[in-house]
Amino acid sequence: MPASRIRLFPLLDRIVSADQAASLVEDGMVVGMSGFTRAGDAKAVPLAMARRAQLDPFKITLVTGASLGKDVDRVLTEAHVLARRMPFQSDPTLRAAINRGEVMFIDQHLSETVEHLRSGQLGPMDYAIIEAAAITEDCGIVPTTSVGNSASFAILAKKLIIEINLGQPAELEGLHDIYIPTKRPTREPIPVVSCDSRIGLSSVQVDPAKIAAIVVTRQSDSPAVLDAPDAETNAIASHLIRFFGREVAEGRLDLSLNPLQAGIGNIANAVLAGLADGPFHSLRMYSEVLQDSTFDLLDTGKLLFASGSSITLSAAYAERIFGDINRYKDRLVLRPQEISNHPEVIRRLGIIAINTALEFDIYGNVNSTHVNGTQMVNGIGGSGDFARNAYLSIFVTKSLAKGGAISSVVPMVSHVDHTEHDVDILVTDVGLADLRELAPRERARAIIANCVHRSYRAQLNNYFERALVLGGHTPHVLGEALSWHLRRQTTGTMMDSANLEEN
Ligand code: COA
Repeated sequence: MPASRIRLFPLLDRIVSADQAASLVEDGMVVGMSGFTRAGDAKAVPLAMARRAQLDPFKITLVTGASLGKDVDRVLTEAHVLARRMPFQSDPTLRAAINRGEVMFIDQHLSETVEHLRSGQLGPMDYAIIEAAAITEDCGIVPTTSVGNSASFAILAKKLIIEINLGQPAELEGLHDIYIPTKRPTREPIPVVSCDSRIGLSSVQVDPAKIAAIVVTRQSDSPAVLDAPDAETNAIASHLIRFFGREVAEGRLDLSLNPLQAGIGNIANAVLAGLADGPFHSLRMYSEVLQDSTFDLLDTGKLLFASGSSITLSAAYAERIFGDINRYKDRLVLRPQEISNHPEVIRRLGIIAINTALEFDIYGNVNSTHVNGTQMVNGIGGSGDFARNAYLSIFVTKSLAKGGAISSVVPMVSHVDHTEHDVDILVTDVGLADLRELAPRERARAIIANCVHRSYRAQLNNYFERALVLGGHTPHVLGEALSWHLRRQTTGTMMDSANLEEN
């Protein structure tokens, strides 16, 4: 163990095995874990907890930053350790258990979890299990590739288990900016005034007496899995790039745009890649997850600075970037997710937020979480934090899913995550609808004309025209509003019989 990794030497006595650390967690406890979109998650103790549960069943409430890597959610689900889980997940096995009603999943705005913890609404946290790159002389916990909720978990939990990961570069120290908001209702303004504002400390200060165990690991984060861009994601990216160009031409933005937030995944990656080829320069990001495309933009010099809460990279990028992190350190900062996603800061900086929808409706309501209104996919994540407070709130999706059996544009969404009041721009591979300052009837016309795949356009127009006859500020044929979802459930496709004949 290099001396630089645990610099408060009395703590060396607390090094134990992962199994010993896992034995401290008891049935019914609330446990916080580091980890945000696969980055910086606790890797050894959760798996040891699952092993223990095979012989000695116990259940916990598990609270994290966002999704975990290394199959942790799958293994904990299979060992029946999870009674309750919040605020986000993306694991197929856990997803199935949630949809069977076996795990109670609380799908929460990512900026809010630690506010609930701080105010006592979430109940006391018994243990926080946090991955760290180092522990400093004054008992500062240095996070690794994410901050997520780790800082407040470490401060608020009764006891701490630290995983010192020697596989994470020691040079990560200095990348983080740990700021904890003051108490409400007399909270001071959060002093982030630009993407590169540094307002806190580089580690999380904790009382050494709280550290119950230290486990040494040597594992890298699970890599991000990105599909290669396809015709649809490229089309979405090019519609957006053209839109930004028009905003510049009309004087609402300049070529540096406003700070960008991009959700994780293929489309966001394709949009950011598209920015590299456009006329834009001096860009800045104020986002949650920094992925491969962020580093491409930094490399080209088009992106000046990126603020996030985690760095989640594909395997090839992880090797290159983390092998040379000092090259990027003065252009990056990782913050607690309540700061990266803070409504006050997002509104102040005028962020352009780009997130993904599963489906949206003719008035611009967006469903990002539930298939057919009932089956949870991942969770709302930070999309609501950004969409509600952004300067421009953009949602993207492919116009079709499941080989054309599903239209992503429907008469009425089967579940609402983002209401029409929080959505400015909708983009599919077909085109872009600019909904700003439009009334509902105008929004419907813009969406049907620009976003719907041609195989569903006539069917959706037919619905809207009949709704108009019935009238209203937001016209609907209520008996039919969810009929597309019902048809998909009963016949396998959203296409009605007339449409099926034509296609
Ligand atoms: N109905 C049913 N299924 C649909 C669908 C719809 N309207 N639209 C897409 N799908 C399916 C796709 O077919 C695909 O299924 P598969 O995994 O079996 O192939 C799956 O949903 C994912 O769709 P995809 O188009 O590949 O997009 P994605 O991987 O980018 O995921 C979300 C889209 C919405 C699930 C994802 O972005 C998400 O969880 N968002 C919410 C959180 C968020 O926005 N985070 C970012 C800010 S923190």
